[in-house]
Formats: sequence, structure tokens, C-alpha cells
Amino acid sequence: MRPRKILFVASEAHPLMKTGGLGDVAGALPAALQALHQDVRLVMPAYRAAMRRAGNIRIASLALEEDPHPVRILETTLPGSEVTVWLVDSAPHFDRNGNPYTGPDGHDWPDNPERFSVFARAVTALALDQAGLAWRPDVVHCNDWQSGLVPALLHGLPGRPATVFTIHNLAYQGIFAAEHFWRQKLPGHLWSPEGVEFYGNLSFIKGGLVYADRLNTVSPTYAREITTPEFGCNLDGLLRARADRLCGILNGADYSVWDPVHDPYLSHHYSAGNLDGKAANKAALQRETGLPVSAETPVIGLVGRLAAQKGVDLVLSALPALLSRPVQTVLLGSGDAQLEQTLKTLAEQYPDRLHVTIGFSEEFAHRIEAGADLFLMPSRYEPCGLNQIYSLRYGTLPVVRRTGGLADTVVDASDGPRRATGFVFSDPSPEALLEALSRALALYRRPRAWRRLQRNAMAQDFSWANSARNYLKLYERSLSQKPAPPEPV
Ligand code: ADP
Ligand code: GLC
Repeated sequence: MRPRKILFVASEAHPLMKTGGLGDVAGALPAALQALHQDVRLVMPAYRAAMRRAGNIRIASLALEEDPHPVRILETTLPGSEVTVWLVDSAPHFDRNGNPYTGPDGHDWPDNPERFSVFARAVTALALDQAGLAWRPDVVHCNDWQSGLVPALLHGLPGRPATVFTIHNLAYQGIFAAEHFWRQKLPGHLWSPEGVEFYGNLSFIKGGLVYADRLNTVSPTYAREITTPEFGCNLDGLLRARADRLCGILNGADYSVWDPVHDPYLSHHYSAGNLDGKAANKAALQRETGLPVSAETPVIGLVGRLAAQKGVDLVLSALPALLSRPVQTVLLGSGDAQLEQTLKTLAEQYPDRLHVTIGFSEEFAHRIEAGADLFLMPSRYEPCGLNQIYSLRYGTLPVVRRTGGLADTVVDASDGPRRATGFVFSDPSPEALLEALSRALALYRRPRAWRRLQRNAMAQDFSWANSARNYLKLYERSLSQKPAPPEPV
């Protein structure tokens, strides 16, 4: 395979910007592709916070769009890597405080359709080498709805690059009132139910799902699930129609960031061969959270967005039973305001059993991974999930529901001591969750059996190199799919 030029398009990339797993993926996969000798450029919006975190920014191109706002492309390097990043700089759209998608009030920015149309237009110019950067990609790899319009805008253009669209979460679709389609002056031929129209609205994700040469999602199980009405979010029909173009590629873990052997956020490092450091991290976590320091008491960790997807309602229903047992729970998350409040109130009632931090803290997430004994992820659906993969490497046995990427990465204890890496339950009910936790807590009382599972878990290898090789194959398939450019006359 000859090296390819790949334009990787994402709305967040760690460490410049991260709100969830997409940030982790976009912060790691481009470098993994580069390690396989590909020529990769990453493009994302020039958010104010990202600009602050980036070193050494230079102007790469001027005024891509004349009116009403000039859009520039800035160039920097993704910190901690050698990946070139292009930042789409449009001050009215991206130079503001707060989250990439929501304002300080927690609601979506009202101008999101405009912001991500401007982004898609700039990416399209880059993809066609019309930004004066003398670089023309073979493949444009788009991710989630924020870059969904790119394959649509490129579709049908002579000499266009091949397009790949990755679904990280089908539930987030970028749906807006039809007027935005016209206000953003999108090409009229895209407006139909076979295009980006979705029951009378504009759907950004359909731009990717309908027009990309190849589609994938982030685990084989979720790739099958989304073709069913239960998980298809009203797009299962379209996905079934394109099933021959759809596959699942499991996310990887960036072990240069997530490994207890060298994790800079930990007070003590450890490995499968020497787990003493894990006990020290547990004591440190108990101290940090004000929980009684006790080596014997199992600690359950949970880090994630407080959203229905993550099964937080199951956790809440199971908590009364859990709080009556000799276990400690440490939770870090943010999201739904009502869930946040309920959790905070419970934590005040049970200060010796439950610690809740509402907010986003990369450091604390690492310390929970290292200090907890068990990691809870009872998601109702989970395209891939990264925290359970990190937990495996930290010897923090995951308790997960059998869905999406969780089903593909965790092997239940009942599979025997050779293969087992955690605890898996099927039914989305608090009873099933408690049953899995009871099995986990019973095993915790058998230190030799527990160590065995920890060793299995820590030996799992979900490095990005494997996933990156699968993406390369997908790129090749997208290139063979693309209609040949017209012959010059
Ligand atoms: P999702 O992308 O659906 O949120 P993933 O498991 O794929 O779920 O990835 C979530 C990523 O975001 C992980 O790296 C996780 O540690 C991080 N994360 C989620 N919530 C928080 C938080 N409140 N503080 C710090 N990190 C968080
Ligand atoms: C999404 C999914 C999560 C996945 C992440 C990265 O946010 O919810 O399961 O791991 O994207 O692909």
C-alpha cells in the first residue's frame, strides 16, 4: 500500500479540546496513522480554549470566504505529537468562552448550524486544495455530525477526494429547522429525503451517512445494532440500505496517556507485575475524596457524561441498595442538571460511602481509574466506550452492560479464569446491575482469583496501531469506491 494523504476532520481533539471520547480518538488516531507512514493533517475549529493550548500558531491561508466574515486557516502541531493541525479560524463562530457545542447556560449554541456550515465549507476548500496550501488529500475522514456536511458538499465534484464518515454516536445528529439549509446557502440539490432533509428538517449527520463513500462506527457490535430500529435513531433504514458500505472498527487506547506505568497524574506508578502502587493510589483517592481510608473496602469508580446513554438512571436506582453495603463509590461527571443535583444530594447524605464531583477534570479521571477497584459503566447503548478500555489497563475491573463496544471489549468472569477481564450484564435493570456488582464484590473477597482477572485485564492490548491498520484498509476501500474523475478531453 502506498502512503496516502489523509485529511482528518473532527470538532475536538485532545489536548486542544475534549468533551468526550471523540476528543480522545481525534487526539490519537492521526498520530497512529502517521506512525504507519501516512501523511495526515488534522482539521478542527479554532476555539478560543484550543488557541490558548496550542503553541506556535502561524497563519497558513487568508480569507477563504469573503463575506460576511473572512475565514482563515491557522497551522499548529498537536501537542505531544508531530501531527500538523489546521485550525479553521472564524472569530464570530469559534472565538468564545465555553464548550464547543453549548453555551454557559448548558443549551446548544443557537448558531450551531452556521458554525458547523462555516467549518464544513472551509474543510471542503482544504479537501479540494483550494486554500492555497498546496496539499491535496486522497481521503477525507469525517467524524460525527459536526463534519457531516463535508461529504455532501464534495459529492459529485470532479477530482474530489474519497470520503469516509465515522459515527461515534448516532443519537447526536445535528438536526435543525429547514430554514437553516437555505440560510446557509447549501446547494439546492442536497435538499430531498434522499439527501440531507430529515422529516422536513436539516440533518447534518445525513450528509455523512448518505454521501460518504464508506461508513464506519467504533465497534463491530454497534455497527450491527444501528441497523435495527432499537438502536437506529430513525436512521436504521438508511443504514440498512448502505449496510454494504458500513463496518465497525474498535477504538484504541492511547497508552502513552493512559497507562499506570507512567501516568503523570498518579502519585504512585504500578504495573501487572507490581500492584503495590495501585493500593497506594487507592488510599490517595480515599484521602482526596474524604472517604475513610481502608484497603479492604472495595471502591467503585464512575467517570462520564451524566446522560441517559450512560445508564445513570440505573445507577441511581441501584444506589440505595449499594449504599447499604460496605463499598465506597467515587463519581466524576457532568451533564444533565437534575442528575447532577440528585447525585450531589445523595453524596451529602452518605459522605462515608459516596463521593460525587460535578465537573470535568482530566487529572481526577486518571486518579479514579488508578485508585478504584471496579469501574462501573452500565450504558444503555455505547458505540465503543473508552473508559472501560482504560480501566482494563489500570487493573480496575469493569462492570459493564452487554452493548456496543462494551460487549466487544470486556469478557465476563463466568468465561473462566483464562479469559475473563470483568463483569458483564445484559438486562438494563437495576437488579441486573446489582447482580453483576454482587458477583464482582464476591470475587473481590478472593484475592487470588481477583489478581488473576486483574492480570488478564492489564494484559489486554487495545493499542491504536491495530485500529489504525483497519482504518487504512477502509481508506483503500473508499478509494476504490469513488467514481473515477472524468477523462480530460
Ligand atoms: P463518551 O464519548 O460517550 O462520553 P467515552 O467512554 O468514549 O464516552 O469517552 C469519554 C472520555 O471523556 C474519557 O476519556 C473520559 O475519561 C472522559 N470524561 C468523561 N466525563 C469526564 C469528566 N467529567 N471529567 C473528565 N473526563 C471525563
Ligand atoms: C462517542 C461514544 C463513545 C465512543 C466515543 C469515541 O462519544 O458515545 O462510546 O467511545 O464516541 O468514539
